[in-house]
Amino acid sequence: MKKKKRKYFVELMDRHTGGGCDPECPHFGECGGCMFQHIPYENQLLLKKEYLNNLLDGITIVDYVEPGTPYGYRNRMDMVCAFGKKGLRMQGRYRQVVDIQSCAIMQSASNDKFIELRNLLSGIEDYDYLQHSGYLRYIVLRQARFTGQVMTNFVVSVPENRFGFILYDFLEGVDSSSILLSDGLADLSFGPVHQTLKKGFITESFDGIEYMITPNSFFQSNSEVALAMYRKIKSWTSGRTLDLYSGVGSISLFVSSAAEKVTGVEIVQESVDTARKNAENNKIDNVNFFCADTLSYVKDNSASFDTLILDPPRSGMHPKMIKEIRNMKLDRIIYMSCNPSTFRDDVKALEEWEIETFEAYDMFPQTPHVETLALLKRKQ
Ligand SMILES: C[S@@+](CC[C@H](N)C(=O)[O-])C[C@H]1O[C@@H](n2cnc3c(N)ncnc32)[C@H](O)[C@@H]1O
Repeated sequence: MKKKKRKYFVELMDRHTGGGCDPECPHFGECGGCMFQHIPYENQLLLKKEYLNNLLDGITIVDYVEPGTPYGYRNRMDMVCAFGKKGLRMQGRYRQVVDIQSCAIMQSASNDKFIELRNLLSGIEDYDYLQHSGYLRYIVLRQARFTGQVMTNFVVSVPENRFGFILYDFLEGVDSSSILLSDGLADLSFGPVHQTLKKGFITESFDGIEYMITPNSFFQSNSEVALAMYRKIKSWTSGRTLDLYSGVGSISLFVSSAAEKVTGVEIVQESVDTARKNAENNKIDNVNFFCADTLSYVKDNSASFDTLILDPPRSGMHPKMIKEIRNMKLDRIIYMSCNPSTFRDDVKALEEWEIETFEAYDMFPQTPHVETLALLKRKQ
């Protein structure tokens, strides 16, 4: 978080702490994963509402932030393995790791698997990301909220399996497990699959739609809140629909029964392959996925859509992308965002549209993050 924003948040936190409350996590205060555990949950929602009203002043008014489940909600945690520790980075200190015994925001089955792995892997050399030496870089835990399936991945620095028989019994208790290779200097918790130890994917289920989640594919980190948002997006969708930044096709497939047809555009080939597979598995035939940069796709294919769905990365959209969208003859745009600042800038730049409905969702309780969703209508 930038200095100015951090200062603003500290001031907001001071005002909303009230009588305070006991953090559920023993690592609170030291670990960089959460900042708000000492603030009663209702106050966290009021804090985020005030933050959004301040940020979005002149664009919309935020009445309410939809709550999430305060703890045990995360379906993905990337635990760094370095300096003899396994856990998360210390607050504000990239070079130090907090040895996490258990994480209060992670779903409980993944938490149990992590505790088991801490013991099992104590003899496996970790990776010093400052000196760039060693083997095990990350343990990545993923869990599908509505099917309960668990995936554990091991991110290593060389294309070798040094686990031997250590994981033999452990693998019985998970649904999927892979060794991923991250052999560069960049501190990455993903990479090509070196070896599939078990199955290679898990399945999540949203209102009857089954999603295959592979080791490297993106999936929203809080399934309960994502489902609530997808239901709202579906209620706003009609006609020929373009879903830009479509990932593994989660939104495209979810809204497909409300649309005439859906076109998803995503730059990562593995995600597009998964999206196609997901369409096939769910027998959904009015959805097409293209592997392309959204800008180049929209330049050549902008004419024939009624609804545009946007869910860009945190950095928001490139000005050239905004320019292309402004040339589209669309009536409605649905914009989902994990970064209210870039959401604000993009909505301001989309001058021909205005916010008709705005909603905020607490996808990441105990942290400063908040997810926004808006239906934009063309100005009369
Ligand atoms: C926030 S995720 C949205 C995923 C999806 N909508 C979902 O709900 O699961 C953003 C996605 O945009 C993709 N992406 C980023 N830049 C892109 C670009 N220039 N063109 C196409 N896709 C891009 C990323 O790979 C990622 O899958």
